[in-house]
Amino acid sequence: MTTTIGAPLNRIDARLKVTGAARYSAEMPVKNVAHAVLIQSTIANGRIADIDTAAAEQSPGVLLVMTHRNAPKLGGKQKSVQQPGEDYPLLQDDAIHYNGQHIGVLVAETFEAATHAARLVTVRYDEDKSVVRLGQVLDKLAVPQHFRGGARLPDSSRGNPDQEFVAAPVKIDQTYQTPIEHHNPLEPHAVIAVWTGDELVVFHSSQSVAGSHKTIAGHLGISDDKVRTVSHFIGGGFGSKGSTWPHVTIAAMAARIVNRPVKLVLTRRQMYTSNGFRPQTRQHLRLGADRDGRLIALRHDSLSHTASFGEWVEPCGLSTEIMYSCPNLGVSHRVAPTDTGIPTFMRAPGEASGMFALESAMDELAEALAIDPLELRLRNYAEQDEHEKLPWSSKSLKQCYERGAAAFGWNKRERQPGSMRNGDLFVGWGMASATYPMNRSKASATVRLQADGRAIVQCATQDIGTGTYTIIAQVAADAIGLPVERVTVQIGDSNFPEAPVSGGSQTAASVTPAVDAASRDIRKQLVDLATTGSFKGLRSEDLDVVDGAVVVKSDPSRRAEIGTLLAGRDALTATKGAEPGDEKKQFSMHSFGAHFVEVHVDPELGEVRVARYVGAFAAGRVLNAKTARSQIIGGIVYGLGMALTEETDLDHRSGRVLNGNIAEYLVPVHADVPDIEVILIEEQDPHVNPLGVKGMGELPMVGVAGAVANAVFHATGKRIRYLPIRPDKLLRTA
Ligand code: MOS
Repeated sequence: MTTTIGAPLNRIDARLKVTGAARYSAEMPVKNVAHAVLIQSTIANGRIADIDTAAAEQSPGVLLVMTHRNAPKLGGKQKSVQQPGEDYPLLQDDAIHYNGQHIGVLVAETFEAATHAARLVTVRYDEDKSVVRLGQVLDKLAVPQHFRGGARLPDSSRGNPDQEFVAAPVKIDQTYQTPIEHHNPLEPHAVIAVWTGDELVVFHSSQSVAGSHKTIAGHLGISDDKVRTVSHFIGGGFGSKGSTWPHVTIAAMAARIVNRPVKLVLTRRQMYTSNGFRPQTRQHLRLGADRDGRLIALRHDSLSHTASFGEWVEPCGLSTEIMYSCPNLGVSHRVAPTDTGIPTFMRAPGEASGMFALESAMDELAEALAIDPLELRLRNYAEQDEHEKLPWSSKSLKQCYERGAAAFGWNKRERQPGSMRNGDLFVGWGMASATYPMNRSKASATVRLQADGRAIVQCATQDIGTGTYTIIAQVAADAIGLPVERVTVQIGDSNFPEAPVSGGSQTAASVTPAVDAASRDIRKQLVDLATTGSFKGLRSEDLDVVDGAVVVKSDPSRRAEIGTLLAGRDALTATKGAEPGDEKKQFSMHSFGAHFVEVHVDPELGEVRVARYVGAFAAGRVLNAKTARSQIIGGIVYGLGMALTEETDLDHRSGRVLNGNIAEYLVPVHADVPDIEVILIEEQDPHVNPLGVKGMGELPMVGVAGAVANAVFHATGKRIRYLPIRPDKLLRTA
């Protein structure tokens, strides 16, 4: 039998991508397309007093100038809002809530004509005072009303953390901060909206085709089945494409008016104002320990900001609840509105930001006690989930620590900060833990096995660059008994059976059980067919499907090809759904990992270079060793950006993004990234889902910033508690 699951198969869509044949949303071949360009507010708070569109309307090639004055009224309420950003203003009134809000759209024959005409629109504002930074709204912090979509409360505690902290013999009491960050996928948001009668097809770069078509229908007040969303290829999303942001619906509104397909592609600059961001956070950590480093009390109190017109909270404290053993623990989240857009999910939302704080604080505790940082974590190893009071479905964190430390050579670390040198450079070694929850939702898939021996799998999931196409092919091939080359995967279309948003690292765990179930059904149909045909007289148990043919188990030389078995039929088909049961009531499900990093710090320039990196991760069964490894490398690189370079600067007077481009918003480039040694620890976990998959998208970036900050401290003796760790912070810190 073919065993392709786990194999380091190349992406089945790799050739399409490297040859340019893969069509991204803006490249879909749609005829007679008109081009749209957005007009955005230049103030953060107030009203549009006047908007003069006359010159733009006269400009050559212009088909439509749509503002709140002439936009179709959407009934004032947008049903089926599923994600942040989907209840944004959609040109319905003159109110301005943030700098960069879409206040109009130009549609013209060409992109150039639309761009030119957009410049001719003049806007006069009644401007109100605005606040755009967390530090300006500390007096407005309040308990979140919709924390995690109402799925849980924003605060939790066990034992008596406040009292026990006061009594603890060793204390760390520090505040850590993270800045606004933007996702910066390589492919910008892009949409082509095509109406045929009252039916709408929307090609747009989306992490959720199945959710998006409902949101668009809700905005427009039409039935879900009138809208189809297509997203065949996605050039990265990182959470920014999990919601259907307003430009998508605006393009659809405009297309209906001009009675032509409308294409709208966000500029790189607009990618900093139109699709959410990771909000600024302040996190107060209090760790109380005994003299052996065992945690007695732990508090993690987080502040972040949201929009004035909607709530989204960075859930910084959730990893803290489960990460270490501690009898007295409390977390809280508070939020305040600013005159900004609404924040959203950004790769490991809450985990990445929260674990920077927790893992920095743990390092400070290790330093205070002169205990090795890894040893401190082992002394506080959580043998069960002390928050849910449940056993782990599986946990291989000790193996991650051991294998990672061995590969890195951690035992050769000099404890004293500033004691390791490489020429004039200070050398620092830091480590941190990683964790991420196993998420899974209901999903369905259809498999069709054709008489030509090929299988087609259809599912309304999407491949955001992670390798979804490939793992679906591997799972289907194994479950049917086909060579993987004979599986065609069709995803990224809301017409296919429903699947969840590719967020929360849940796609593999949600979709592959459905693909597996439908494929097994096909295998059974095929074998049953053989018992009435080619192998009449034999029982199903006597037969197997191997390499695309039904064979007799006792004599594999007796084969029947699929084409022969299906004679007279087009295909066998099966549609199956798969969903979680109540297993999360019995087990706590998380993936874990460990980071080890060496940095070199120039003491005169304050420049930090990452010299060496080892990451070890255990996330259940690995479906494809190559794409999993790529996910890990990508996650670590994303974390290095968070640690060292990434920060969105807002003008505090106007809320304008000052560095809305990837020349000034610094994402890591090749020269910033050393060789990354990836250790994948295979885990058998029968509880998480039928395939034992936990998901690998977000885990590897959790803890990177902490590991780097800890390495910087080890190199220099300087503790940087406010990301990113840029030279200015090292130079001005005594
Ligand atoms: Mo991810 S931030 O859950 O798309």
